[in-house]
This record gives sequence, structure tokens and C-alpha cells, in this order.
Amino acid sequence: MIEKPYSAACDRNRDAILAVLHDHFAGRRSALEIGSGTGQHAVYFAKALPHLTWQASDRAENLGGICAWLDEAELANTPPVLEFDVRQPVWPAQRYDAVYSANTLHIMSWAEVERLFARLPEVLAADARLVVYGPFNYGGRFTSASNADFDVSLKAQAPYRGIRDFEAVDGLARASGLELLEDRAMPANNRCLVWGGG
Ligand SMILES: C[S@@+](CC[C@H](N)C(=O)[O-])C[C@H]1O[C@@H](n2cnc3c(N)ncnc32)[C@H](O)[C@@H]1O
Repeated sequence: MIEKPYSAACDRNRDAILAVLHDHFAGRRSALEIGSGTGQHAVYFAKALPHLTWQASDRAENLGGICAWLDEAELANTPPVLEFDVRQPVWPAQRYDAVYSANTLHIMSWAEVERLFARLPEVLAADARLVVYGPFNYGGRFTSASNADFDVSLKAQAPYRGIRDFEAVDGLARASGLELLEDRAMPANNRCLVWGGG
């Protein structure tokens, strides 16, 4: 039995994110989470939003931990975690009317971010919503000294990592037929970006 991984940040940000999901995933039925990480958000949001089927997903190395959270919670609306890497050639055959991803765009390479948005329409149902949480730069500038420090630490982990420019990410979303619906400030200099379309 794998011990449940734990991220304190997930406990800190979950209610601010949940308020956004309450507003934008209200009329949706099936959500795909990309890069579920520990699995904490999947359990918390699936429990709070029982009208949604919440499909957690991540790369192979994180599946055991996510599974441990899902197994313990025993929720009726969380199917088994999906192994999913945006780089993989074959994407899920199912379509979702809600997609959620937190703290992933600064971890992926920019080529992976481009791939994520380019292929997103394949898994989006009509009138879908995309919610992306994380830190972003605006006008080429960090929004805080702590985000600038965070960017240095990301690049020390791997040079391809880094805080993304909101305008560049929104450009990818628009090229995939998505329209920005909201850009909400979150605690600790993070944002929740919400697009609609599909
Ligand atoms: C910093 S963690 C965030 C985890 C969780 N969403 C959270 O907010 O705590 C970044 C996540 O992105 C995932 N990730 C990185 N590259 C990915 C890729 N190419 N495809 C899918 N997920 C990826 C990692 O496996 C990891 O779970």
C-alpha cells in the first residue's frame, strides 16, 4: 500500500480554487484533471462537486499516490486514475465538458504547453470550460518578488521550466478556439484562468 503523498499548498489553495469551480463547472458533467499530482485536489473537488465525474490523471510516476487518495475517499464520482502525459501520441477518446489543471504549465516545457493547447480540442465537448491555476507573468513582468524567486528555483530544477506569460498562454487558447471568460486573482500571487469554448 502506497502512503498518500501530501502537499500543504493544496490545502492552502483548494477553497479559493473551489469557488472558481463552483462558478464555472456548475453546469458541467465530466471533468478531466491534467497533472493531478498528489491527488488531493481530485478528492476535495470531486467531493464538493458531486454533479461532476472527476477524472484524475497524471504521468505514471504519480499514479500510485493519486490512487491511494482516491481509494481512501471511496467517492462515487472518481473513476480510476488515468495515466496521461500530454506528450503521448494517443489522447483519451472520451470528451469532457470541463478540464482543470493546477501548477502544471510552469513545470512542463513550453513545447509541452503548446502541445497541451493544440490537442485540447480533441478532448473538449461542446461548450466546455478550461480552468488553469498557477502563477503567470503579465506584460513580461513578474507580479511579485516571490514569483521572480520561484522562477529562479524552477529554472534551477530544469532550464525548460518557468512561469509563463499570460498573453502567450491565452494566445494558445485562442488558437484552439477558446475564449477567456475570467482571470481571477488567487492567494499567494497565483491566478485562476478560465476559458470557454469547444
Ligand atoms: C507541481 S505539480 C502540480 C500537481 C497538482 N496539480 C498540484 O497543484 O499540486 C506538476 C504536475 O504536472 C505534471 N506534469 C508535468 N509534465 C506533464 C506532462 N507532460 N503531462 C501531464 N502532466 C504533466 C506532473 O506529473 C505533476 O503532477
